[in-house]
Amino acid sequence: MFKSYFIETYGCQMNVADSELVEGLLQKEGLRHTDKMEDADFIFVNTCAIREHAEEKVHSQLGRYYRIKKQKPDTIIGVLGCMAQHLKNDILENKPYVDIVLGPDSYRKLPEIIRNRVNETNNIVDTTLSRFEVYDDLFPSRNEGINAWISIMRGCDKFCTFCIVPFTRGRERSRSVKSIISEVKQAVSEGFVEITLLGQNVNSYSHGNDGFPVLLEAVADIDGVKRIRYTSPHPQDINEELLDVMASHDTICNYVHLPLQAGNNRILKRMNRTYSKEHFTELANLIRKKLPNVGISTDIIVGFPGETEAEFEETLGVMEKVKFDSAFTFKYSLRPGTKAAEFSDYLPEEVKQTRLENVIELQKKHTLERNLDFVNNVETVLVEKESKRSSSHWAGRTDSNKWVIFEKGTVNIKDFVPVLITAAKGISLHGELVQKEEAIII
Ligand code: 5AD
Ligand code: SF4
Repeated sequence: MFKSYFIETYGCQMNVADSELVEGLLQKEGLRHTDKMEDADFIFVNTCAIREHAEEKVHSQLGRYYRIKKQKPDTIIGVLGCMAQHLKNDILENKPYVDIVLGPDSYRKLPEIIRNRVNETNNIVDTTLSRFEVYDDLFPSRNEGINAWISIMRGCDKFCTFCIVPFTRGRERSRSVKSIISEVKQAVSEGFVEITLLGQNVNSYSHGNDGFPVLLEAVADIDGVKRIRYTSPHPQDINEELLDVMASHDTICNYVHLPLQAGNNRILKRMNRTYSKEHFTELANLIRKKLPNVGISTDIIVGFPGETEAEFEETLGVMEKVKFDSAFTFKYSLRPGTKAAEFSDYLPEEVKQTRLENVIELQKKHTLERNLDFVNNVETVLVEKESKRSSSHWAGRTDSNKWVIFEKGTVNIKDFVPVLITAAKGISLHGELVQKEEAIII
């Protein structure tokens, strides 16, 4: 009889891609996917350690798995990913019902672990980090869909002082252009219309003499690739060569994620972000100059240790200058083991909360302002799913990464269609399908 597995994924797209890799390995071992965790012989959770909140969610899920295991003692519970790496001792001491703990570089061990599980009763733990593992030869099991995540590099050497990633995912290493291209070709032949190149530090990609612009151009030149995105870059590794490649290929989306984190130079230095606010705003201007109508999103952390009110206001100042199209905003969360955890000047929760609300409010204003600029444009939209609010409407994205809601008409998911933008509401655009013969795409 076939054994079954259930897997759930927390955290970033890199984890989504890793879970697909894990699923590929499990299926090769003859395991079948189930959507019901209660029925599964193996329950896996791919975890995230980036903020305390992410860890809390996993802890509460582990409680659910434990209750299932009490009913069905043969259930095998596996904790994968960043939290496995970061909290293995805590898990082993306090959660003895967890059978398998594997860090992000140890997934190749899974088939062997599953085969031996019949006679093996001890916990299996492997959180060794590798300088070489890129899972080059393994093919992920992707669900049918629009977008294929393709991991091009792993790890991070930047060591921002707030961030746990360099500790949970280890040193940077990149796959060869050749193997990435062959995976992209396979994804295209399977019907994926959008490719997202992934890495913790995607644009510090480096393999032999090939840097990220070379790779991006090589992917853009593959027949049948309709849209290419990449995430998540570091401002330090965005250069003119990369922007020129983006500008000269229509298939590369006109969208840049440019994580600011903070707008004051003392705090940026304390965060080890390697750029000043002046350099950051110049870079944003250069991006807008080279890529007209580009969508720029950012990440902002409020309440980093020692951040004064005046320093926080400089973050608002940079936001006013750059006017991001969207932002992911976070309260600083202490991560044990990081450099910032050694600072002592933490800010009270209320201060962080108020600053977060200020940032969100300002960003809402900017998102609307930037979206209003799109009204009356005809945009090419990739139809991705049904609108959450209305079954007679589609939701799709522009290449600048804005969601557009429009009446379904006769078009289908995965189509690229011209849509006249008629309104900007909240964080989305609304529009009307344009008959192909009327369309002049801007
Ligand atoms: N606290 C709050 N936010 C964090 N991030 C990373 N580490 C922390 C932390 N300790 C945010 C950064 C990063 C994004 C992925 O998560 O903004 O860009
Ligand atoms: Fe974390 Fe900084 Fe590396 Fe991004 S660049 S993963 S924020 S250490």
